[in-house]
Amino acid sequence: MTALIEVTRWNGATIRTVDIDGRLARLLKPETLAHVRRTAELARQLAEAHGVDPDQAELTALLHRVASVYNDRQIMALAEYYEIRSDPTETRVPRLLQGKVGAEILKNEWGIRDSELLDAVRHYISGAVRMAPLEKILFVADKLEPERDKVYGDLDPVRALAMTDLDAAVTRLSVWRRAELPAASWRVDGMFTSQNELSEFARATWPS
Ligand SMILES: [Fe+2]
Repeated sequence: MTALIEVTRWNGATIRTVDIDGRLARLLKPETLAHVRRTAELARQLAEAHGVDPDQAELTALLHRVASVYNDRQIMALAEYYEIRSDPTETRVPRLLQGKVGAEILKNEWGIRDSELLDAVRHYISGAVRMAPLEKILFVADKLEPERDKVYGDLDPVRALAMTDLDAAVTRLSVWRRAELPAASWRVDGMFTSQNELSEFARATWPS
């Protein structure tokens, strides 16, 4: 199905991130590789600030885009293969399934068994109702890595917040997303017709 690197054993300590980095370098597009490296650096800083294993956080961030090599049709096929349930928004915007599909790829094709890592990858785009610290770190780091300022303006205040209060940063990003989008991305008719529609659009256009 895919030529992803085979990793047969995983215990969190025996595979160095430098090995993963080399493998990712052969797999990912250069811009995606640069993004996961920036995200990994920030994830590491956030982990150190919040008592999470920095190596685990770095590795999780490095691996969060393994499904980016697939197009929409392939993502949907993989979702079906792995029996991933997709909601209507994900069906309409298959890119949103990158996290869920990526987690299955890491588990089934890379042999990764770290459930915290897999959950963080699974939920990194849209978040989840209850998120473990590592999930919050990847969710936040993915959206606050340095290059995001080019699109979203000055994110330093949210970065500072994330260093002291991870939950507040998650909330701030979600609220900010809904508040900013109508002005930044006007629809043709200029208005969102409902909060649900706005929420869906906000989710569908999260960067990955
Ligand atoms: Fe990302």
